Amino acid sequence: MFENLDAVPPDPILGILAAYAADTNPRKIDLGIGVYRDETGNTPMLKCVVEAEKTLIATQTTKSYLGPRGVVGFNDAMGDLIFGRDSDTIAQGRVRTVQTPGGTAALRVGADLIRQAWPEATLWASDPTWANHLALFPAAGLPMESYPYFDEINSDLRYDDMMAALRHRGPGDVVLFHACCHNPCGVSPNPAQWEAITDLAAERGFTPMIDIAYMGFERGVEEDTLAVRLFSEKCPEVIVASSCSKNFAVYRERAGALSIVCENKQKAADVESVIHSLTRKSYSMPPAHGPGIIDIILHSDELTELWISEVTGMRNRINGLRKILSEKITASGISKDFSFLERQSGMFSFLGLSVEQVARLKNEFAIYTVNSARVNVASFNEGNMDYFIEALATVL
Ligand code: LMR
Repeated sequence: MFENLDAVPPDPILGILAAYAADTNPRKIDLGIGVYRDETGNTPMLKCVVEAEKTLIATQTTKSYLGPRGVVGFNDAMGDLIFGRDSDTIAQGRVRTVQTPGGTAALRVGADLIRQAWPEATLWASDPTWANHLALFPAAGLPMESYPYFDEINSDLRYDDMMAALRHRGPGDVVLFHACCHNPCGVSPNPAQWEAITDLAAERGFTPMIDIAYMGFERGVEEDTLAVRLFSEKCPEVIVASSCSKNFAVYRERAGALSIVCENKQKAADVESVIHSLTRKSYSMPPAHGPGIIDIILHSDELTELWISEVTGMRNRINGLRKILSEKITASGISKDFSFLERQSGMFSFLGLSVEQVARLKNEFAIYTVNSARVNVASFNEGNMDYFIEALATVL
């Protein structure tokens, strides 16, 4: 059987981890995978997570199965976080949130759900989008198309082109949005633009699917849920895939959730039962540890406050790095304009380099970016920025 299988190339993002680990250059820099890093290059555990984990370990009494819903307190808290504690959609019983092993599983189960609900559906994603979106949806049998999003010349949003394209979408189309900190380009619609996009979704009747993986890294934990809240107020059906990997820094614990908004309470219960039947056929039941920690944090005012301050700290550090990097590049005499770094948000931005320039950064300087020249800004620090700028000047 396996004679039919040939090796496949490494994943465009995960492959960088292995190549970087094997590189012996002491000045190497990993600007690839999207994990937050502190000034020392470490991805720290948050204090709120360490505290909650102690409580979890001290109080847990069993390792028996959780059941298909996962940690119920986690689901409720995530629903409140994403849709708002005072959300009418939640009060009407139209939302169901089900824990998944990370945000990626939420996307996959969401894709399976779409296929089951509407086998002819097409998923429309921004051009560009996260490399794994491009693999994941077709793997679930969901055809993908793209809508204009990123203006490479001005490093900005192609707002008018996007709206013109979305005007042609309607029932049977699922349109994927990044709620904040667009991965890979770092450019998001502003609040007024989100109002118009969500009005258009309601008018045209396409189904919004929202990937919210960086909540808290753009403007604030609550502010970054704006798109989810507007879509769920205006549209009868919404699909939301959320991840706690980055904002709780629990990457390896695989904590995420799939939320669905339905027309009414009964439909929400019916759709949740379909989600359980889908997950039973793939991973059966979700893991307990990470969501157990987050459940404890979000049900403690003190730990929630600590968490918000830690997310704020990560966001401020990334924004600070964006500013310093942009200023240092200008001061270095590089004539190409990188001031967009300061205007964009979240971990990622495109440097606008060619594939050859990306290869030179890797081969001559041991600086690793995704092939698209996407960089993780959180990987910069005082110790590596000047070396990076020297390398950038050389390849430019
Ligand atoms: C990224 O885009 O680097 C992150 O979302 C991590 C991943 O799984 O690709």
